Amino acid sequence: MPRILTGIQCTGRPHLGNVLGAMLPTLELAAKPTYDTFIFLADLHTLTTLKDSQERRNYVYAAAAAWLALGLDPAKVTFYRQSKVPAVCELVWYLSCFTPYPMLANAHAFKDKADRMSMVSAGLFTYPILMAADILLYHADIVPVGKDQLQHLEITRDIATSFNQQYGPVFHLPQALIDNSIATVPGIDGQKMSKSYHNTIDIFLPEKELRKLVMRIQTDSKSVAESKDPDTCIVFKLYSLVANTTDIDTMRKNYTAGGYGYGQAKEELFATILERFAVAREKFAQYITDISNLEKILMSGEAKASVVATETLSTIRGKLGY
Ligand code: TYM
Repeated sequence: MPRILTGIQCTGRPHLGNVLGAMLPTLELAAKPTYDTFIFLADLHTLTTLKDSQERRNYVYAAAAAWLALGLDPAKVTFYRQSKVPAVCELVWYLSCFTPYPMLANAHAFKDKADRMSMVSAGLFTYPILMAADILLYHADIVPVGKDQLQHLEITRDIATSFNQQYGPVFHLPQALIDNSIATVPGIDGQKMSKSYHNTIDIFLPEKELRKLVMRIQTDSKSVAESKDPDTCIVFKLYSLVANTTDIDTMRKNYTAGGYGYGQAKEELFATILERFAVAREKFAQYITDISNLEKILMSGEAKASVVATETLSTIRGKLGY
């Protein structure tokens, strides 16, 4: 049975970009009986940016609650914290000896920070190797991710190929799975929605705060009367990612006809987010207040993940002669 695997960092609460770009597409596949699904919270990756332990722990629970609220079934999915299966760290060392320096030096996440080299830790530099280890340790075949992770998947395949060439076909070569209708969800300022740009929409916020955020989405300064271009508008782009086809068509017509203001469009976007995620919002509020239940669910997933991880590591050690 093909194995699906994906992870999410815990540097903040999951946002609409995470939800639409990776979480919902993964859960849709996980619901099919033809796949064996592994979903984890990348809390070791999170340490590259977030050093406050309490804050990190809170975000780990928020991410866990979000996955469960969106429909993750822990009886079917192996659901775990990356840090609780430390075999991944041993694999990082082995893989790092098969990773050429220029491959890491060319990684976007590193190059983006190249002008502030003193801020780049060894952990940030080797981030793609930990991601490769996440995937290869569990022999994942399909990795549903947003477009921004494509390069990391290419690096993973290159590292796996280099290892396999020397020791035989140990690692599966994983395929990235990107939902092209979503690809990159824009943030409220039009850049890619990202925790590091402070432009996210947190769908689990209380209603009042969520509304405030939606109202802050940037638009041009066209008056209500003027005709507007839906294809250059962030409000419309977000609406088209969460609404149904008929409503999207109606909004498109309203934009071009004129007499329809950005304020109205934002109100409709806000109402649609509330409606589409009503069940998830309610469930999130329940999960996040019961940490011992979250712990129980995660610990059971960690026991399952550890069995697979131990088996893979034992194969790798054998191949390497340790
Ligand atoms: P992270 O935590 O940045 O994002 C989690 C997932 O959400 C997707 N995503 C988006 N998709 C569309 N539009 C956006 N604006 C947007 N923002 C985020 C990301 O592409 C990702 O799929 N390195 C990974 C976490 C990770 C991982 C892994 C993923 C660690 N190990 C192994 C897959 C397999 C990351 O930082 O994702």
